[in-house]
Amino acid sequence: MSAPDLKRAAALAALDLVEPGMRLGIGTGSTAAAFIEVLGERVREGLDIVGVPTSEATYTAATRAGIRMATLEELPELDLTIDGTDEVDGRLRLIKGGGAALLREKIVACASRRMVVIADASKRVDTLGAFPLPIEVNAFGLAATRRGVERAIARSGCAGALSLRLGADGAPLTTDGGHRILDARLGAIPDPEALSGLLWSVPGVVEHGLFLGICDAAILAEARDGRAEIV
Ligand code: A5P
Repeated sequence: MSAPDLKRAAALAALDLVEPGMRLGIGTGSTAAAFIEVLGERVREGLDIVGVPTSEATYTAATRAGIRMATLEELPELDLTIDGTDEVDGRLRLIKGGGAALLREKIVACASRRMVVIADASKRVDTLGAFPLPIEVNAFGLAATRRGVERAIARSGCAGALSLRLGADGAPLTTDGGHRILDARLGAIPDPEALSGLLWSVPGVVEHGLFLGICDAAILAEARDGRAEIV
């Protein structure tokens, strides 16, 4: 059972939550791409929904799949957002942003009545933090913001190195919103709420990848006896 099979299984299970007429937030990343694929198939069969994308990449993929798209300006309240995740713990707290879309992902998720993440079960963790925490920062004053972020991390009781995320061309990556990403390799985040509050206190921090109290359910697919099962 390959990772793409598990992602597709989770995406198919999420499709059961989609009802005609829904205003749907659509996530970013490879699992969200699997969802766009199966949703597009259903739309071509006649399902009538409208999507709001969490990234330019998702807008392009969803439009190509034949899904009608709108903006949050047009639809400021959504029924449901389906997105991937980098980590999910037992309290449905998440780390997101491996695909650099965390800012729009959080805005769209918070505009939704319900947010459900889809993933293969390897994303489930006891303690968040093995995945580097993305922190989106304004490009202006990056060095000063970086020092502020380092101090915030230390005050939260975490330890670890920060790195500026680079794009495929080797230059600093620019997000859809025109910002930079600092990835914090912390290993473990024992108190995500405390770290979140401290990061918010740093001028220049635009958003961080801790999604706390936002996710309502996780659909995780695991290989069992050669088949994908939702756990
Ligand atoms: C995008 O910024 C991320 O939050 C993704 O949702 C997350 O990285 C999961 O991506 P995959 O589904 O590709 O693992």
